[in-house]
Amino acid sequence: MAAIHRKPAWAIAETLATPETAFLNRRAILQAWGLGVLATAALTGLPKVARAEGDRKPAGSPALYPAKRNDAYKLDRSLTPEEINAKYNNFYEFGSDKGIYAEAQSLITNPWAIDVDGMVEKPFTIEFADLEAKIPLEERLYRHRCVEAWSMTIPWTGFSLSKLVELAKPLGSAKYIRFETFNDPSMASGQNGFLYTWPYVEGVTMAEAASDLAFMVTGAYGKPLLNQFGAPIRLALPWKYGFKSVKSIRRITFTDKRPVSFWEELASNEYGFWANVNPEVAHPRWSQAQERVLHTGETVPTLLFNGYGDQVASLYKGLENETLYR
Ligand code: MTE
Repeated sequence: MAAIHRKPAWAIAETLATPETAFLNRRAILQAWGLGVLATAALTGLPKVARAEGDRKPAGSPALYPAKRNDAYKLDRSLTPEEINAKYNNFYEFGSDKGIYAEAQSLITNPWAIDVDGMVEKPFTIEFADLEAKIPLEERLYRHRCVEAWSMTIPWTGFSLSKLVELAKPLGSAKYIRFETFNDPSMASGQNGFLYTWPYVEGVTMAEAASDLAFMVTGAYGKPLLNQFGAPIRLALPWKYGFKSVKSIRRITFTDKRPVSFWEELASNEYGFWANVNPEVAHPRWSQAQERVLHTGETVPTLLFNGYGDQVASLYKGLENETLYR
């Protein structure tokens, strides 16, 4: 774990390189009210409702793992060991520091139903276990580049988002897919705070959803997803900054309105809808030219579309007037 703490000279303070852009703004608000940082912790750390151990059975079927690896998805670097990945997470529902894995154990994923609604032939609700059993699972090695300028490499298990779109039967008028995380302050202490707009929301265009790279993730490291990774089902969009990869999805809505995401709602000057990785477009507060590889501590150049340009660059032809890289 030492590598995580060894920061290269260029690295920015963690509090600055965080999508929690309002960190400073919120602190200013709290200070204006005569409340300090500790008050923030108190506001976001209200007691959780105790749950019975029996509630903690995972939603899915461990027998489906490990799934066969799809060798088309190759990496240019070694995998991040599970023990590092599983203890360095962003999951603001459970707190705003990287060590929320213990808090995330209060996430109850069984039962877990997913609503599919909006512009579809017929809205429906599906149990996670049924969904997981319906679409064949595969393993893919993906890169993951956080907007905070660190990166990991992960063996995800899941299925292409396009398979879920097929199942949902969207109407021709649908232009976007909106994903919504659970909203339950009794199990996620971070959702007690009033400074964020819950639930966590993200979105993609229908064209992006059709890209084979867009992956619905149900497992990692050959097992069902750990809670801190966003169990039981999350998204992985490896050519975009990590905040687009929404965790613990409860609702999937097909719509003709562009969804406003969690971070965009909080700070639209820093986080937008597209958020494609581009080393040449700096975040307003830090450079995106390089990234810290979490498990080696090395600093390496960041690649356009996080190295996935061959698969996704064509999606953005004709959209040059959009803010594609933030
Ligand atoms: N999804 C939810 N529901 N809540 C979150 O706080 N954080 C995002 C994304 N998805 C987040 C989320 C951010 S900023 C990143 S970088 C990735 O999840 C982190 O995924 P990891 O913890 O598996 O590395």
